[in-house]
Amino acid sequence: MKILLAAAEVSPFAKIGGLADMTAALPKAWKAAGHDVVVFLPLYATIDKERFGLQKLPLLVDVPFGSWTEYATVWKGMLPGTDVPVYFVASSDYYERPGIYGYHEGFQDNDRRFIFLSRAAFEVCRAIDFAPDVIHAHDYHTATMMPMLKVLYRQDPLFCTTAGVYTIHNMAYQGMFDPARAMEFCGFDPAEWYTGSWYEYEGAFNAMKAGIMFADKITTVSPTYAEEIRWTPEGHGMQSALQVRGGDLIGVLNGIDPDEWNPETDEHLPVRYSASQIDRKEANKQALLRMFQLPDDERQRDIPVIGMVTRLTEQKGIMLITQVIESFLQDGECRFVLLGSGESRFENYFKDLAYRYPYHALIKTGYDTALSHMIQAASDYYLMPSKFEPCGLTQMFALTYGAVPIVRATGGLADTVQQYDPITFSGNGFMFQRLMADDLHASMTDALRTYKREPHWTSLRINAMAQDFSIAGTAQRYIDVFGWAQQSRR
Ligand code: ADP
Ligand code: GLC
Repeated sequence: MKILLAAAEVSPFAKIGGLADMTAALPKAWKAAGHDVVVFLPLYATIDKERFGLQKLPLLVDVPFGSWTEYATVWKGMLPGTDVPVYFVASSDYYERPGIYGYHEGFQDNDRRFIFLSRAAFEVCRAIDFAPDVIHAHDYHTATMMPMLKVLYRQDPLFCTTAGVYTIHNMAYQGMFDPARAMEFCGFDPAEWYTGSWYEYEGAFNAMKAGIMFADKITTVSPTYAEEIRWTPEGHGMQSALQVRGGDLIGVLNGIDPDEWNPETDEHLPVRYSASQIDRKEANKQALLRMFQLPDDERQRDIPVIGMVTRLTEQKGIMLITQVIESFLQDGECRFVLLGSGESRFENYFKDLAYRYPYHALIKTGYDTALSHMIQAASDYYLMPSKFEPCGLTQMFALTYGAVPIVRATGGLADTVQQYDPITFSGNGFMFQRLMADDLHASMTDALRTYKREPHWTSLRINAMAQDFSIAGTAQRYIDVFGWAQQSRR
């Protein structure tokens, strides 16, 4: 199958969160399964062209934009470790600035920046003569490719048999734009935007809604989230659009790339291990405590480590953590190791926590891939009390690395973690339902009671590591969806 994937993030070139992991892992897996894949991404100023060996193509691509034409230059590279071509759309107006989205509210012209990427992807396909069987768009950034395919390129010989599949990674970011601007940039008739139209929500142009309404199939990143977004406020206002398209909405659980996340081969770990040598995890824990410069006698105290690697946003349930974590640290019941970056109010809270509990709160702010692997390998438990979680990759990394997850039962967390039952020894973690500090506290207390208490401790960790989240299965599910999209193409 010939697949075009376009997104705002692709690891390792540009990554904020799990979107980038998925837009790298899927093309790699599709290619390995014999499919023909091309990937589109903006050439952000932060992408190191030399490091990734990017080459400027001898192309100046005309991109129709509103009633005028703009131009894109194109750079090409390969997804590292693969022969999947990545086309980088370059524009000094749109991408030569620091950051991917801009701080807080995002760049003022994110409508224009991402509509440009979406339109340019079609035009670059023409220039390189790539006729995709399916266009796979992700989140609000490339959502407008779905209506562009149906409205602007339906008669184009290159795209007349192309199906559109739209994947939602997070309903919280929808791309709500000024309608006059967005319709013009997209090249759509402004009269097509009106109250109740496929482009409109609450008086704005809504890129996500357009993606939902025009796609042949819509997917989201876990089966539970697929239900939640249709029937609960997790739909962030898109419930009725998703109900209209309910028959075409499919939850496909994310997967992880075993070349990157495998404790037996992980190059970031001082000591590698498998389920049958899980005791070797202890050496990674010691190494992590040394990295945080804990003195010898402190390191030798056998206290459970609870890890966390996360964006520091409301979504991740950080407020709940701030309400309960101190009661565990005060009593020295556990150490809390956090790597995170995001909202400054949360960063400041955790920096202060580290100052007050120097031996029990080990905090690093910023972005650090190597440390993110170390934390999974070193942790006994992994904390993820998310307010909502479309899928979540880090709890899957934790399970794979034998760190027992403590999570709230929402979205993909509910699909990957099962509450441990000490009677049957089944389950791989700890789960609470309500977004309440008391419930998190109870779940953490419950979890910490199992620390090195046999036979529960071994059962938990074996159950955790036994699960297979490898990306190959996920990639095949998408191929099935692409096939259905082609059959029902409108
Ligand atoms: P989300 O996409 O909502 O942030 P996911 O769990 O799906 O959540 O994916 C997060 C990804 O980002 C994982 O690969 C995780 O390891 C990585 N990550 C998050 N924060 C950091 C950080 N501060 N340093 C390194 N990696 C991080
Ligand atoms: C989003 C979601 C996260 C999901 C990731 C990859 O960032 O917040 O739950 O795992 O996308 O699909």
